[in-house]
Amino acid sequence: MPRPTGCPAWSSTGFGAAAVVQPNAAWAEAHLDALVTALVAVTGVTTVIKNGTGRSRGLEGLAEETVVLTGGLDGPVPVPMNGATYMADLLGGQKTGLFFDQRDNHAFAARLGRGGRVLDVFSHVGGFGLAALANGATSALAVDGSTAALDLAEAGARASGLGDRFAVREADAFEALAALAEESARFELVVCDPPAFAPHKGALDAGLRAYERVARMAAPLVAPGGYLVLCSCSHAADLAQFRAACTRGVGKGGRRAQLIHTGFAGPDHPMLPQLAESGYLKALAFRLD
Ligand SMILES: C[S@@+](CC[C@H](N)C(=O)[O-])C[C@H]1O[C@@H](n2cnc3c(N)ncnc32)[C@H](O)[C@@H]1O
Repeated sequence: MPRPTGCPAWSSTGFGAAAVVQPNAAWAEAHLDALVTALVAVTGVTTVIKNGTGRSRGLEGLAEETVVLTGGLDGPVPVPMNGATYMADLLGGQKTGLFFDQRDNHAFAARLGRGGRVLDVFSHVGGFGLAALANGATSALAVDGSTAALDLAEAGARASGLGDRFAVREADAFEALAALAEESARFELVVCDPPAFAPHKGALDAGLRAYERVARMAAPLVAPGGYLVLCSCSHAADLAQFRAACTRGVGKGGRRAQLIHTGFAGPDHPMLPQLAESGYLKALAFRLD
């Protein structure tokens, strides 16, 4: 089935299963009724939400609006993923309510965190931290600047039966990384998944410096032999540039690293070789000395 740009996020609501569509291109907006009819017919969802907050909508001359197109919603909805239950705000949350494109990377990182302490920086609703806990991590600390995201993360931890091993810290991530270093905190797995620091070519140099800074500040928090997962959703920074920035940062953070895995967006986010923007998501997993 042809689909609007952006991916549906599936969840179960009091109204039945729901999907979120992001019609970021003018062609998708023009054919939205037909697309939604097909989506309902093919998948059986009863609620469809149009999330019209994509950056490219403005470029296409489309208005920003998020509305329930069919069905209904009665608050944040529980979404099972990687053994945890996430609480997603499909109407007011970031992206489609969840960073669904990261779920394979959540799963990979969760295996690295088994039996250890996990620090999930830029956690949103607990993407990496809750998956790690559900797969055997002993504790997870989620850091984010958004109160709403952390409230949902805590609700997700409770819904997953993981609340006693989950903690949140509402803070600017750079300040939190500095504070944790002051506290001599150490974690077997540290994940940093910031917002796009290089959302366009003009922001590339500053963005790469920010990725390097994240790596430099996070590396010292990794326990000996532990893992550091660094993510970028900036399409303007390609894989080689992002990897070089992270490698420099880890070195400046005083650590030596092996790159053990490179992850991308899930397979339901196909990349168009001709469209660099479609290869935006990168996740680098390092083992530190
Ligand atoms: C790409 S999302 C993280 C997605 C999440 N890791 C997941 O897998 O579900 C980036 C997050 O960073 C948060 N954020 C942005 N700037 C921040 C800052 N300076 N300090 C702390 N959090 C920040 C946003 O609120 C958002 O939740």
